[in-house]
Amino acid sequence: MCGIVGFIGNNDAKQIILNGLTRLEYRGYDSAGLSLFNQRYQNFDIYKDEGRVQKLIDSTKNAAYSNVGIGHTRWATHGKVNKENSHPHYSQSRRFIIVHNGVIDNYQDLKSQYLSNANFSSDTDTEVIAQLIETFAQTLHVENAITTTLKLLHGSYALLVLDANDPEKIYAAKYKSPLIVGHGESGITIASDLMALIGYSDTYHALEDKTFVVARRDDVKIFNLDHQLIDAVFKPIEMDAADTTKGEFAHYMLKEIHEQPSVIRRIVGNYYDYDASTINPEIIKSMRASDRIYILAAGTSMHAGLIGKQLIEQLAEIPVEVHIASEFAYQMPLISKKPFFILVTQSGETADLRACLVLLKKYQYPTLTITNVATSTLAREASYNLEIFAGPEIAVASTKAYVAQVAVLAIVAFELSAKTFDIKDALTKAALSIEKFLSSEKMDDLVRNFLTRRNCFFIGRGLDYYVGLEAALKLKEISYIQTEGFAAGELKHGTIALIEDGTPVIALISNPEINGNTRSNLKEVQARGAYTFKIVTSDCAQPDDEVVLDQVHPLLTALVMVVPTQLLAYYAALDRSYDIDKPRNLAKSVTVE
Ligand code: AGP
Repeated sequence: MCGIVGFIGNNDAKQIILNGLTRLEYRGYDSAGLSLFNQRYQNFDIYKDEGRVQKLIDSTKNAAYSNVGIGHTRWATHGKVNKENSHPHYSQSRRFIIVHNGVIDNYQDLKSQYLSNANFSSDTDTEVIAQLIETFAQTLHVENAITTTLKLLHGSYALLVLDANDPEKIYAAKYKSPLIVGHGESGITIASDLMALIGYSDTYHALEDKTFVVARRDDVKIFNLDHQLIDAVFKPIEMDAADTTKGEFAHYMLKEIHEQPSVIRRIVGNYYDYDASTINPEIIKSMRASDRIYILAAGTSMHAGLIGKQLIEQLAEIPVEVHIASEFAYQMPLISKKPFFILVTQSGETADLRACLVLLKKYQYPTLTITNVATSTLAREASYNLEIFAGPEIAVASTKAYVAQVAVLAIVAFELSAKTFDIKDALTKAALSIEKFLSSEKMDDLVRNFLTRRNCFFIGRGLDYYVGLEAALKLKEISYIQTEGFAAGELKHGTIALIEDGTPVIALISNPEINGNTRSNLKEVQARGAYTFKIVTSDCAQPDDEVVLDQVHPLLTALVMVVPTQLLAYYAALDRSYDIDKPRNLAKSVTVE
């Protein structure tokens, strides 16, 4: 996915756009660009290149002061990572300049049908949009030219459009990709994410699909694609700038790991008013009426979903299936007669999951999203939504969102159950256990021994196996060490062939009933030369265990067991001097299938 920011008003557009792009850089960082209206020459200057936002900041140091402009950070989908394919793109005459987040599936057809004589400067689907607008603007008013173009597009878009013939407006449009309009004293800011608006807008409106915006310095009008005015409600922005900075931490990832105890406490505070749950009773009623619950998610959120399966099955005794979103969307399994679907997604914008929701809505199945962004597409389109209150998660590698998702799934499972223990107390104890570990952790000492290895294994059983899957993803995605999370008892059925002298194998043990089994599996790999260490909870601890965490409720062990593994990944990437918050090839939310 990409990040887009536009500003029009009585303030420094370049500064606002660059600050916004910096805050949105986690959304994509292959290239960056912006366009500003040049009062002196009465046209729009364009600055763009591959590389990070900092490069754009440096290259626009001497740009003329301007009150209107648009900017973009790209995660490449169509076209290589290079200057030509960076945004903003423009029409042939350079009248129209646009930035786009999304994918236009039929851009080649549109190119051959309407633009066979146009000259293109890039391989992108985005440039086709600019060229189409220019083509239709030869006979239509600019707003009609834009909406006519929008009606032809198949796929997803969040668009900002500048018209050199009328620099007192920014046009915007949204379908499937997020776009938020901010209203502030000094003007109108339009961006992919609320974080880009902080400090410049007091209120915001999250655009619905198939809306079209005309923004002026002190006014913004929102229409449907038939040009009917929409009465948009603007809400106060409650996030503050501190949420978007690293504070005293070296990286967002480390800050977000350390925020996890307070995130758990915030969740307890938001979901309980003394002993009464604040969850909409309709959700619990609908889940109780189901004969099977399906959890759909991707990546780390799918790993949280696996924990959720155990929680719901053991507490509520409702069968649960967990499915990878991209598989479910195109290979729907046999569905029970009375299903209930939970979609777990930090961003609320994952395209693979959106494809599932479109399918589920067709069958009119009840759906619940568990997400960190209340204004997100999936949060707004599902039957119900529960927020995880993790606060903005900026590091691409998800940590506090995973812990928050597991905590919310635990509360949902508890509210479905006979409530035989105090969930608030159990979650609070988990927060304390994490806090105690973080106050004295020495995970960087353990990392040294496996940095040079070509691969690594996390082994565990039950919930620890699921935590191992998440631990492996974290280590892979920021240190680029090939890592597998493996069921401890399964390793000996073949994969143990990969164990050689020094292969790191980390055992995760938090269940006393199978403590001995996992330790035996560890001995099997030690006997073949593996470098091993153990991450355990105190009720499973033995004298030589390297990392011991305070015991927590047996169903909540994932909340604490994952934290040392998050730090292992962090220190491994740090030691390798990789970009921890923005790892190569990744983006914070994958809004393409
Ligand atoms: C997590 O570390 C990854 N960045 C990635 O797997 C992520 O969890 C996945 O893309 C799902 O994103 P979502 O939670 O926003 O749907």
